[in-house]
Amino acid sequence: MRLLVTGCCGFIGSAFLRRALADSGVERLINLDVLTYSGRRENDLEVRDDPRYRFVEGDIADAALVSSLFSEEQPTAIVNFAAESHVDRSLFAARRFVKTNIEGTLCLLEAARAEQERSGSPIRFVHVSTDEVYGDLGPDDPAFSETTPLDPRNPYSATKAGADLLVQAFAATHKLEALVTRSSNNYGPRQYPEKLVPLMITNAIDDLPLPIYGDGLNVRDWLWVEDNCAGVWAALTRGTSGEVYNFGGESERTNLDVVTGILSALGKPESLITYVKDRPGHDRRYAIDCTKARTTLDFTPGLRFEEGLERTVRWYVDNQDWWRPLKGVSFQEYYQQHYGKLGLST
Ligand code: NAD
Ligand code: TYD
Repeated sequence: MRLLVTGCCGFIGSAFLRRALADSGVERLINLDVLTYSGRRENDLEVRDDPRYRFVEGDIADAALVSSLFSEEQPTAIVNFAAESHVDRSLFAARRFVKTNIEGTLCLLEAARAEQERSGSPIRFVHVSTDEVYGDLGPDDPAFSETTPLDPRNPYSATKAGADLLVQAFAATHKLEALVTRSSNNYGPRQYPEKLVPLMITNAIDDLPLPIYGDGLNVRDWLWVEDNCAGVWAALTRGTSGEVYNFGGESERTNLDVVTGILSALGKPESLITYVKDRPGHDRRYAIDCTKARTTLDFTPGLRFEEGLERTVRWYVDNQDWWRPLKGVSFQEYYQQHYGKLGLST
């Protein structure tokens, strides 16, 4: 398999990179990543010397670059992790999310389609998506299944839903072997410290306030990052074209549960918890029914949440060189730098 994987300098992509290169069936792996604020070049350190591996710095929405990369490398499979991934950022910079998440995905689909026509061989295309496309659940609603109607409620999830539909359209109309995976909230090492788990761990290490939105009773279904990567690998190698697969951790927890678990793992006081103004359009509950992935892909959420949280806390304690330079860069500073680079206005 000759793999083009996008966004492997980010949190989940970098875990997938290590998993994929451990497989001897991978003869080539190209990581295409534009290195936004959340893309860390050092995230591929463990695989950099592997002769099958190549890093290309570039934008998935750059059609000329993507097309020339396909001509040069002739990949037989694509896995698309690259995305603008943070809901809070999407609330004030939605255009950037449309550019990467929708236009970038379309650009990859068009290049894959052209390569499939040129080579006459089927191309696999796995698009990595999120449970957030299904919207919001009440406390007693059944968990999201693959047939739950899409109902995205923030600009991030709206752009992910748009991309998912394009992928399914390319599978139907252009016979691309394309499929979509939708996972619940991932956690583990190397997650940018703006998301709940790493933000709270890194603040707690420094005895800073832990800002909980609203009443802290919003529920997420937490999935160990390597379990998601195992699911994506199964979808890539055994999934059926045109299908959607949900991966969840079967670990529903309130945000307050997660934060108190972090404080207890670090031996820090609960007085660090600070309730702040709620996120606009804040989805109350996400939960995933992964029966289909269990029965057809042998997917299983392997690691217990409490064990995974312990491991994650330990990683952030032991790897302070990784996250300290990332704290305190404001959204405004980031967008001033990156909108210029990408030729966009807000
Ligand atoms: P991340 O923000 O940590 O990483 C995203 C990576 O994509 C970064 O390396 C970034 O540099 C790169 N990137 C961004 N825009 C790009 C562009 N235009 N061209 C090339 N590279 C670009 O995100 P993550 O948490 O690793 O998420 C990966 C994927 O998984 C995303 O598609 C996200 O929607 C999806 N997902 C994430 C979660 C989660 O809990 N983190 C849950 C479900 C689904
Ligand atoms: P987040 O990690 O941003 O993931 P998502 O919004 O994609 O689920 O947030 C997870 C939950 O934590 C969500 O309910 C919002 C909440 N949250 C806070 O309470 N405080 C924070 O500072 C952040 C970043 C999130």
